[in-house]
Amino acid sequence: MKLLITGGAGFIGSNFIHYWLKKYPDDNIINLDVLTYAGNLENLADVADSKNYQFVKGNICDEKLVDGLAKNIDLIAHFAAETHVDRSVMDSGDFIKTNVEGTRVLLDAAKKNNVRFHHISTDEVFGSLGPNEPSFNEKTPYDPRSPYSALKAAADHLVRSYYHTHKLPITISNCTNNYGPYQFPEKLLPLFITNLLEGKKVPIYGNGQNIRDWIHVDDHNAGVDMIIKKGRIGETYCLGGNNELTNIELTKKILELMGKGEEMIKYVKDRPGHDLRYAMDISKAKRELGWEPKIKFEDGLAKTIEWYKNNKDWWKKIKSGEYNEYYKKQYEKLS
Ligand code: NAD
Ligand code: DAU
Repeated sequence: MKLLITGGAGFIGSNFIHYWLKKYPDDNIINLDVLTYAGNLENLADVADSKNYQFVKGNICDEKLVDGLAKNIDLIAHFAAETHVDRSVMDSGDFIKTNVEGTRVLLDAAKKNNVRFHHISTDEVFGSLGPNEPSFNEKTPYDPRSPYSALKAAADHLVRSYYHTHKLPITISNCTNNYGPYQFPEKLLPLFITNLLEGKKVPIYGNGQNIRDWIHVDDHNAGVDMIIKKGRIGETYCLGGNNELTNIELTKKILELMGKGEEMIKYVKDRPGHDLRYAMDISKAKRELGWEPKIKFEDGLAKTIEWYKNNKDWWKKIKSGEYNEYYKKQYEKLS
């Protein structure tokens, strides 16, 4: 099988490439990534010289490039996106370009070249749950509330529209919060772990009572694998970790595993429009695909902390602004 992966130099995409090449060593992967601040080829240093892996630096909005790459491909797995909610609050321009127009360009190339399309999406398109409301499922109406989730929702609708109007063979997965190695240290888990390794405090937004469901990135990617191999065309599958935690509960677990006390917590201004709770009903994926998350959160979290401890060069370069001065300023503000 020949796959075109978009956004393969980011967190989930790079883990997906590792996962796929290990499990299917005879398959071929082209990784199309423009290398925004979140893209990092160091994530893929170990596969860079593999004969069945090729990196192409380019933008998914580049129609000619994308159309050329989509020839002789069996599947596009579309991970590329602007992904950080806080950045979308500051400026949603790049989110519109990449998440919506980029998805449109890929869909048109898939249509022209008869390519199966799997779209990676998020639970955030469903909005925010109250503490006792039932979890999201595939039938939950969309109610996105941040510029990021609104534009992911737009992309999801566009993908579905190509199935209905053009019969393009698509599938979609909506997943909850991922954690694991190679996650850019602007997201809660890597930011908090690396701050603590640097002796800095961890900034909790608001009162810390917001709830997220956490899934290890390898479990997410195993779910995507099952959808690619066994998913019904035109269908959406909700993936999650069955692991809801308030941000304060999660922070206390990190502090305990890292041998730090609660004096390292700093409560800061809340995120504007901060969604209260995400939770996912994964029974469709279980029933139809036989998929469920396997990695116990306590084990996955301990291993993830170990990874950041053992890969200080990776995140220190990012946080010191070696890649980009702007991000150094961002971290100084957050830390
Ligand atoms: P990330 O920010 O770590 O990586 C995104 C990658 O996309 C980067 O390598 C970046 O360079 C690339 N990219 C961005 N714009 C591009 C463009 N115009 N052309 C080509 N490449 C471009 O993101 P992530 O956390 O790995 O998320 C991957 C996907 O999974 C996204 O679609 C996201 O919405 C979705 N998702 C993420 C989570 C999560 O918890 N991180 C959960 C559910 C769904
Ligand atoms: O739910 C899936 C989504 O998870 C993905 O679609 C997004 O791409 C991904 O970024 C993530 O979004 P969140 O906004 O949930 O992740 P983030 O790590 O930014 O925040 C997690 C929770 O922690 C959220 O309630 C906000 C809070 N938070 C975050 C940061 C960065 C803090 O309290 N302090 C922080 O410094």
